[in-house]
Amino acid sequence: MGRNDAAATKASSSRPRPQDMRAVLGHFCTGIAVITGHDGQRPLGFTCQSLTSVSLDPPYVSFCPALSSTSWPLIRATGRLCINILADDQEAICAQFALAGEDKFAAVEWHPASNGSPQIAGALATIEADLEFEHGAGDHTIVVAHVTTLQAHPGRPLLFYRGDYGGLSGLRADPAAVG
Ligand SMILES: Cc1cc2nc3c(=O)[nH]c(=O)nc-3n(C[C@H](O)[C@H](O)[C@H](O)COP(=O)(O)O)c2cc1C
Repeated sequence: MGRNDAAATKASSSRPRPQDMRAVLGHFCTGIAVITGHDGQRPLGFTCQSLTSVSLDPPYVSFCPALSSTSWPLIRATGRLCINILADDQEAICAQFALAGEDKFAAVEWHPASNGSPQIAGALATIEADLEFEHGAGDHTIVVAHVTTLQAHPGRPLLFYRGDYGGLSGLRADPAAVG
């Protein structure tokens, strides 16, 4: 049996644990966004790294909220949202929006985007979108959103890699395995 056959056998005969999924998929470095909305009562938002560009025409993006997200069901109900792609000096905002139940917008500078969703000052890019459709996917859902307007701003990205986040030069070269 060749080396690749052995690896394939192992992959098909062992069921990956959640911590294995997190640790291995963490090698796929991504940016970080805060998905926001406004239900007419208060601003809503959560940190999200599962953002992907899906289609150019029509303009679709996707992201995956956990079933445990408390903000997403409230944003979903409004049918519209804003994706704030974070800059490398927004680590504190990343951490603040990753905590459920906190006053997430405390000390955060923002104003309503054209669709009413919070636009966070200093973000690297701002993408407004309408909910197009959503599919269940295990312990998450896959949201596809139709982009209505978008703009980029000067700056450098905040990155997520192997459970750590920071700027291009701030990430540890070989972070300890997570999970
Ligand atoms: C870097 C980073 C990336 C994250 N990416 C996601 C994601 O893609 N989907 C998700 O549901 N939660 C993600 N989270 C976790 C949520 O931000 C966290 O569970 C948060 O408490 C959800 O808030 P909510 O309960 O107000 O929705 C991420 C957290 C961090 C720190």
